Amino acid sequence: MADFHRRIWIKTYGCQMNMRDSETLKALLQEAGHTVVENEAEAEIALLNTCSIRDLAESKAIGKAGRLLKNKRKNARYRVGILGCMASRQKEQLLKVLPDLDWIIPPQKLSEVPEIIRKTLENDSHKCIIAGIPEAFEFACYEQKLPTSPCRFVPIQQGCNMRCSYCIVPTTRGEQQNRPRSSILHEIQQAVADGVKEVTLLGQIVNAYFDKTSSTNFTELLHAIHAIDGLERIRFMSPHPAFFNEGLIQCYAELPKLCPSIHLPVQSGSNRILEAMRRRYTREKILQIVGDLRKIHPKIAISTDIIVGFPGETEEDFQQTYDLFDAIGFDMAYIFKYSPRPTTSAAEQQKTDLGVSESVKEACNQRLLSLLTHYSTCYNQQFLHTTQSILVEGRAHRGENRFLGRNVYNKKIIFTGTEDLIGTFQAIYIKKTSSSVLEGDIV
Ligand code: SAH
Ligand code: SF4
Ligand code: F3S
Repeated sequence: MADFHRRIWIKTYGCQMNMRDSETLKALLQEAGHTVVENEAEAEIALLNTCSIRDLAESKAIGKAGRLLKNKRKNARYRVGILGCMASRQKEQLLKVLPDLDWIIPPQKLSEVPEIIRKTLENDSHKCIIAGIPEAFEFACYEQKLPTSPCRFVPIQQGCNMRCSYCIVPTTRGEQQNRPRSSILHEIQQAVADGVKEVTLLGQIVNAYFDKTSSTNFTELLHAIHAIDGLERIRFMSPHPAFFNEGLIQCYAELPKLCPSIHLPVQSGSNRILEAMRRRYTREKILQIVGDLRKIHPKIAISTDIIVGFPGETEEDFQQTYDLFDAIGFDMAYIFKYSPRPTTSAAEQQKTDLGVSESVKEACNQRLLSLLTHYSTCYNQQFLHTTQSILVEGRAHRGENRFLGRNVYNKKIIFTGTEDLIGTFQAIYIKKTSSSVLEGDIV
């Protein structure tokens, strides 16, 4: 009998949503009898789970796919698939640059990947399969059992309706669809029974969550998740400032498992640019949210995303962003240089004289990065010579017997330990801090 099982290597680009999709995909492929390998040299099939958010993310994946496709010359069985957001943005256009691709499968077809692979292998086909985008997302695939791990990303939404003028996500992931409350609770209950202690709820606009069937909004969902016995910590990302309301703020006072750390993407501090971005909030609203959160948790960790060099951004606009950053003192931030995405309305403006030069973008980037280093260093210093409770997640990247966990403020803490501590809470006395990490010893 022919063997249709393969050694498959998955490479993931982009956001936490993609990371979680790859974990689920790995589990689905293993269930279908394939072996998922860590080492790309061992693979007979390479699947790239791609991201379209900026041009750089796309060009990296194209370059990688081109190099992988060369393996076909040596191995007739070798196959390469583009999955994820590039598959839905570019579809068959990908064949112009990568004519030998075997699969182009958008994120909405995640649950069908094993079946698509099986059909290709059975038919011994070398024709590229371009999967269409289904109307409804198959959320049940996220109930697939995953390997034991202390922390889990839990998708509660797909897609986004916001159409911020710079953003490709509504095109790649489609309209906002909310995962049924029952499916979310089922996954988390199962995960907790398997040893998960911390969940991070994922969505592009998590706080706009609304499940029609059970008539559950985001704060009600948080309360329901909070009631799950054995779950210790809850986080979520990303909330949209426009959907922040009193109910969500109150969750920070009422739900002790909700960690005092929040990722609040502001994008810009200039009301003029926020309007051009179609963000639907003002800098005043941001300051209000931060003020309200700090009334409840004075030390709450607040991180953000910022885009510099949006079309039409002047020095004055940038200064407003800088001042907002300075006023809030974000302890973590992802600063992006604006990258025009085809079909978005801002990309059209980029072509006009509103476009900001690369050198100006780079200068703005550097100015915000120094501010970030200052605030992240200060924020982390407050933990020096204190004892922090961490959930041990796994081995640190470097150092023998070095392990890593995070405190409730989402700060990475490295210490010397043993494998059996993974998944437990430990008290760590902090002896050293920097802008990015804390180090200490088990008490
Ligand atoms: N849904 C989230 C953002 C998801 S995309 C939100 O609305 O906040 C992650 C980040 O990528 C965004 O916050 C934004 O800062 C950045 N980003 C999105 N499109 C971009 C573009 N065209 N150029 C540069 N950065 C971009
Ligand atoms: Fe993109 Fe805006 Fe939706 Fe976030 S809210 S995913 S930035 S369109
Ligand atoms: Fe990228 Fe798609 Fe996530 S475009 S950021 S992988 S939703």
